[in-house]
Amino acid sequence: MIKISPSTNPEKEENLINYVKILEQTSADYLHCDVMDGVFVENKCLSYNKLYEVSQNSTIALDVHLMVANPIQVWKKFLICKPTILTIHYEAIKNKAHLIYLLREIKSKHIMVGLSIKPSTEINEIKQYLPLVDLVLIMSVEPGKSGQSFIKSSINRIEYLKQIILENNYNIKIEVDGGINENNVKDVYNAGANIVVMGSAVYNSANKIDYINKIKALTK
Ligand code: DX5
Ligand code: ZN
Repeated sequence: MIKISPSTNPEKEENLINYVKILEQTSADYLHCDVMDGVFVENKCLSYNKLYEVSQNSTIALDVHLMVANPIQVWKKFLICKPTILTIHYEAIKNKAHLIYLLREIKSKHIMVGLSIKPSTEINEIKQYLPLVDLVLIMSVEPGKSGQSFIKSSINRIEYLKQIILENNYNIKIEVDGGINENNVKDVYNAGANIVVMGSAVYNSANKIDYINKIKALTK
């Protein structure tokens, strides 16, 4: 069965705590916290203070997705939120020695360390870093906003990554983010995903308990 990580997007920050309280009633496995800095991506959302408030009010494990240009400078600030998963973007760090350093640093805090890649980044590019990560977050839309359509070629990327993980016996989860709903979740799951992010699909569902149960039932 797939694990579901409903996103803090597109809920407005002022309603976020209420939204989290609703999600707590569901069988959601994580709360996907989309942090955007207005530099790495155009939009800016989830201020550090709001995320801290969420962390103080959420019983759901936090899955923090840092869409920021300078993860090395800011990641430590998020430790106080006690994330279960902390994911940074491969494309944000040009110096690969720095990338290795950061992945090791996050791991040393006993947090699941995630490495995310944009739709245009080849899986082969991150192959050498796989021994250092617990999770790969495959973006199935261009990062920056919720409500976009799932890019179909992501299925091949998930399958290819899954194959590498199995061949090397890595203990790595595959999370997929962007445009996932009841119509494509089965394909994403069958391709090898362990966790799916759901922004607008959960947000727009009338009954979030039923909707998340339905998604899980589809991937049994
Ligand atoms: C996109 C974010 C996603 C997004 C998901 O940049 O990383 O987590 O909020 O929203 P949907 O599911 O609507 O694509
Ligand atoms: Zn995200």
